Amino acid sequence: MMEVIIRTEGVWKSFGQNGPRHVDAVKDVTVEIIRGKKTALGGPSGSGKTTLLGLMMLLTTPSKGKVYIEGEDVSRFSEVFRAKIRREKIGLILQANYLIPHLTAIENVALPKLCTDMAKSRAEDIARDKLEQLDLGHRLHFKVAELSGGEQQRVSIARALVNNPKILIADEPGSSIDKKLTWNLLKLLDDMVKNNAMTIVLASHNQLILDWADRSYMMDEGKIV
Ligand SMILES: Nc1ncnc2c1ncn2[C@@H]1O[C@H](COP(=O)(O)OP(=O)(O)OP(=O)(O)O)[C@@H](O)[C@H]1O
Ligand SMILES: [Mg+2]
Repeated sequence: MMEVIIRTEGVWKSFGQNGPRHVDAVKDVTVEIIRGKKTALGGPSGSGKTTLLGLMMLLTTPSKGKVYIEGEDVSRFSEVFRAKIRREKIGLILQANYLIPHLTAIENVALPKLCTDMAKSRAEDIARDKLEQLDLGHRLHFKVAELSGGEQQRVSIARALVNNPKILIADEPGSSIDKKLTWNLLKLLDDMVKNNAMTIVLASHNQLILDWADRSYMMDEGKIV
């Protein structure tokens, strides 16, 4: 049984409404994301991948059309409600990492757990596990500001996974890491799909990642082609 977990229906996202810098970044996209599957978005720079993911992550609302998560129309929810769904169901990996530079790697990863009243030591045990799986066991107590770009990217991946989200949405998760680390990341994601029935949607330019997905869609000029 294929169960749809996210559906966009004729969704548009426009910026600079009708002014000189008007852009239709996403144009009339209808797409279904299947539970427990890995879906990838490819396509050239500026084709609308990040914008479409932003709509699925509930970071932005559509200019037109609808977004459904588990059958519920979430596109018109208030920001408070969208934040609740993000917190409960979605792990986000964004192109910019939004880590807290003066906290250590392990403190950054443990943070979402502390928001659920878990004891700090227990939260840090779970954070340590995730960081070790991403080959960062030797950087646990480094401040994020002292880490390389690829190391920071892996810390943000660990943070997105620490709550075992139902849905993981990732924008360019392999952009700052080499081939071996990309393989390790894909292996870790495969385990999470198997063990936690996680659903993954990601955008990437990396052929390795596009081939790994169960389905991949190509975007061009705001449309799925
Ligand atoms: N906040 C915004 N305001 C105005 N225009 C925007 C905004 N966000 C995106 N755009 C425009 O929408 C288009 C699509 O951008 P988007 O970031 O979705 O592309 P992308 O496929 O993710 O590209 P890349 O591969 O470079 O990350 C771009 O032309 C961009 O200039
Ligand atoms: Mg992008």
